Amino acid sequence: MFAVAWVFLLASVVLGVLLRWQAVQPWAWFDYPNWLHAHSHAAFLGWVFNAFFALAVREWAQGAQRRFYWTLFAVLQVANLGMLAGFPVQGYGAATIAFSTLHMAGGAVFGVFLWRSRAVPPSARACLRLAVVCMLVSGIGPLALGPMAALGLRDSALYPLSVYWYLHFQYNGWFILFPAAVILARAADRGDRSESPTVALVLLGTGIFLTFLVSALWLDPPGWVRGLALAGALSQLAGGVLFLAAVVPVWSGRTATGGRLEVRLLWVAFSAFFAKAVFQALACLPALSAVVDHRFTAITFLHWVFLLVVLPALVAAALSYGWIRDGTRTRLGLALAAAGIILTKAGLLYPVLAPAVGAPPLPAVSQILLAAAGMQLAGLVFVAIRCAAQRVEPRQGV
Ligand code: HEM
Repeated sequence: MFAVAWVFLLASVVLGVLLRWQAVQPWAWFDYPNWLHAHSHAAFLGWVFNAFFALAVREWAQGAQRRFYWTLFAVLQVANLGMLAGFPVQGYGAATIAFSTLHMAGGAVFGVFLWRSRAVPPSARACLRLAVVCMLVSGIGPLALGPMAALGLRDSALYPLSVYWYLHFQYNGWFILFPAAVILARAADRGDRSESPTVALVLLGTGIFLTFLVSALWLDPPGWVRGLALAGALSQLAGGVLFLAAVVPVWSGRTATGGRLEVRLLWVAFSAFFAKAVFQALACLPALSAVVDHRFTAITFLHWVFLLVVLPALVAAALSYGWIRDGTRTRLGLALAAAGIILTKAGLLYPVLAPAVGAPPLPAVSQILLAAAGMQLAGLVFVAIRCAAQRVEPRQGV
């Protein structure tokens, strides 16, 4: 299952390279918005969702349940492949809406199973359930689009807000809390008898709901909306600190037993999470509106979470399960991908920030972004080849 997820990751990155290519040498036949849908759906549902599914089965599926999970996984792949083939051709059309609805239904079944699973240790249960709530709540956004279009609201602010609603509860909620639940479950597996970090979860949950308002700042709302959005970002920061304080003591000693790369990757994920919350807080300041409203800033922010929080956390999990083997070539692949990620962030943010400080424009930004996308693809392919070439044994990780 994790290998299938990785293949979808590679597919989404190939699509990302094609999207970047269009800024260098556009193809007349290439319908950018349609291919963008293919990219984002492959990344969200083919990569992240499938990887979470693999983790859940590894951690919590017992006996006969495994068969059910495999069947559900197969149905979800029909939906994923349908979307991957359909979006470039028809964008949002009959087939792709059917496949995405199928995936949403399958995702809801998966969510119910996670909610009811008795195999989840008590310390991870609340966190996992909050993650499931975010996943299910995110679905309200796309479900609202059809009725809105029928009511002639396509041009109203509610329409993009529904899309942002989906994105927000996915990448600020589900994408963060599911790996957090796995971290808690792994700690319990290792004999940690701590209770569920309730205060941290209340703060994180409150922060997730309030920071949806960050997605509405482009509407120039009244000051109290900005205030609530800021409170949400601060609440996430405080929740993150308390969560970290609860899990870090469990990792101590890991570095001595070979989990060093995993621990480092988890630190990358946590640091990027804290930086994300700081960015969200800064975004609430009216003085920074011009920077925040820029398309490049939004894309940088989204990929920050996807590539610097979710990807390192999932690679850390894969390393600890033995799905990816630590070694020189794996590290080289990850380093190449990391260099590509950093170059992308620099290439996207320089044009936004340079005018503010009077710096000269960067020549060949599109070429830099294309090269950076190629580096990410090469690095992730490298990791895949390394894993396909070697059968690996699971080992005890964080
Ligand atoms: C690793 C290499 C990746 C590259 C090169 C890449 C590239 C791109 C590009 C070029 C865009 C369109 C930007 C624009 O039109 O302004 C985009 C949008 C998007 N990407 Fe990626 N991407 C990558 C990874 C990911 C991952 C891992 C995810 C999710 C897990 C993801 C999710 C999205 C989403 C949701 C959008 C749409 C954002 C929007 O329309 O507001 N991408 N990406």
